[in-house]
Amino acid sequence: MIYLNGQWQSVETAQIAVLDRGFLFGDGIYEVIPVYSRHPFRLDEHLGRLEASLASVRLTNPHPRETWRELVLEAISRHSFDDQSVYLQVTRGAGPNRDFPFPTSAQPSVFIYPMPLTTPSAETKAKGVSAITKADIRWLRCDIKAIALLANVLLRNEALAAGCAESVLLRDGMLTEGAASNIFVVKDGLLLAPPKSHLMLSGITYDLVLELAKQHGVPHEIRPVSEAEIRTADELWMTSSTKEVLAITTLDGFPVGTGRPGPMNAQMDAYYQTYKD
Ligand code: PDD
Repeated sequence: MIYLNGQWQSVETAQIAVLDRGFLFGDGIYEVIPVYSRHPFRLDEHLGRLEASLASVRLTNPHPRETWRELVLEAISRHSFDDQSVYLQVTRGAGPNRDFPFPTSAQPSVFIYPMPLTTPSAETKAKGVSAITKADIRWLRCDIKAIALLANVLLRNEALAAGCAESVLLRDGMLTEGAASNIFVVKDGLLLAPPKSHLMLSGITYDLVLELAKQHGVPHEIRPVSEAEIRTADELWMTSSTKEVLAITTLDGFPVGTGRPGPMNAQMDAYYQTYKD
């Protein structure tokens, strides 16, 4: 069952108006909230980012925080699987026609879609994944979790076509993030993370990794990271709500460090898994 504009219904038969601005313009925002053992993970942080995304695109928030929380909990309770990934989307709704100005009459469309969560398997974690570098061709407001993801879709699919899991994005010779993840770098025992800006999404997992680094005394620095530093890194990680903390062990066909997940990755993954419990 999914939630669409006030009704719980089957995902196969749920319908949306063709004039919905999400469909016509990609005019909307979203969240992906992981759920472990039926508990939403970092829910307040996800709802905080949802509110920030709505404000950034001047979309009136249809619900107070408490209602969002109740809707997410109800979505989780309506599904049998214990680990879920709850997709939550708000679009500007349907106007009277296809036109650029925000319609005065439109009601936002709200869609909540829980799916089974599949985090990387033990084998994948032990091996790490491959990635390619790509020019970051996206717009200049990548901090907004907008549903208009065509560039991300193309970039992720270019990685898949190359037999890789992710595209690591570079803008003006500097690391931004992945097509659907944030990227961390380890060099000489120091964890490096690019600073938040309009050029990357403020990842909930990114924040947690830095929180865990602080808590456990992992040497870390938040500062711009250059292409040269990615290419000579001892470790590279991708982080997201669905991938957690996953080592990238091959970049553009070359091994990252030893070509195997490094010790800091294993350590951070252990902190992350313990935090989840
Ligand atoms: N994507 N950067 C981008 C461009 C992303 O799309 C994502 C997540 C992240 C990581 O954010 P978080 O840690 O909050 O999941 C960074 C989600 C999972 C998606 O679009 O499916």
